[in-house]
Amino acid sequence: MNTAMNTAMNDAAEAFRKLLEAQFLRLEHMNTERTDFSRKETVTIGIIDGDGIGPIITAQASRVLEKLLADEIAAGSIVIKQIYGLTIENRMACGQPIPADVLAQIKTCDVLLKGPTTTPHGGTLESANVAMRRELDLYANCRPVCIPEKNIDWMFFRENTEGEYVLGSHGVELPGMAVDFKVTTDLGTRRIARAAFDYAKNNGKTHVAVVTKANIMKKTDGKFTAIAHEVAAEYPGITVDDYYIDIMTANLLKEPLREQFQVILLPNLYGDIITDEAAQIQGGVGTAGSANIGDQYAMFEAIHGSAPRMIQRGMGDYANPESIIKASAMLLRHICRVNAAERLEKAMEACAVTVTSDGAGATAEQYADALMALL
Ligand code: IPM
Ligand code: MG
Repeated sequence: MNTAMNTAMNDAAEAFRKLLEAQFLRLEHMNTERTDFSRKETVTIGIIDGDGIGPIITAQASRVLEKLLADEIAAGSIVIKQIYGLTIENRMACGQPIPADVLAQIKTCDVLLKGPTTTPHGGTLESANVAMRRELDLYANCRPVCIPEKNIDWMFFRENTEGEYVLGSHGVELPGMAVDFKVTTDLGTRRIARAAFDYAKNNGKTHVAVVTKANIMKKTDGKFTAIAHEVAAEYPGITVDDYYIDIMTANLLKEPLREQFQVILLPNLYGDIITDEAAQIQGGVGTAGSANIGDQYAMFEAIHGSAPRMIQRGMGDYANPESIIKASAMLLRHICRVNAAERLEKAMEACAVTVTSDGAGATAEQYADALMALL
């Protein structure tokens, strides 16, 4: 062992110690009171455009929300607030994943509708998404995939604040190697497991699949599975099965086996990967909405990225807004505007206009026009 290696190991050990301290601190602040939207006099919806195709699709989703909520906006019980400055240019210039003044604006809202934001490869700038999920403690990422004609009705509950993501920008580099960290906590796992089982119970579902790679990631995924089973014991009538993520990706393609899956509970990274696959089965990542839910705040978004290549090709207007509009329906449900959510979901089912990213179909705006005519 030479001196350079020794120094690198000592530095890494010191860095690791600081990371653990920060994680213990995070645990101490984990439980907050839940917002009750059925009683809240004014609900503020923040709109964040994002990057790339973000402003194009978010503009259409805002139009739809403004139409559905017109009476409440006029009465003042709903406030729609545009949040500026969460752009890749501003984030790079400030060197912050969410510039402090933008975060302050965000925290004045109750719920957010957010367009996709660009995440730079490498470097040190953290993803705005990951930062927002952490800052607002949005621990439950709920992603529905529904294809009635194929008998598919899946709801993914992806843990959203831990796993490989929580220290994803805090790995260490030593001579000739790099190390990242994965963190799974008892409290963090228990609350996402409860969210999944509560959803199952409240929606007449009878089965939860817990998906990990606990045969390999023995400590973290092992804990996730064990706690999911402890929580399951509080929900009689709901059965639970464990799957490994590799075979689960295959199972989602396997007919008719896949029809039996109802609620799927996973740690962060596996949830990230498999929900893109599931969305593709549904018709593409442009068709899937996503809710990031915490006890206080919630943020709703498309599951896809900012599609910079579409913008480069001059095809931005043909970006599919369906996914963020579906997320808007989830937002409406979350704030207890169930009628508005149902109107929107029915109109989306009935809307015959299709948007394809190759430009052969309608533009995002034409889609929203057709949809709004059905509301
Ligand atoms: C998602 C996205 C994000 C993630 C990116 C944009 C950071 O892929 O919401 O699934 O990895 O969680
Ligand atoms: Mg993803």
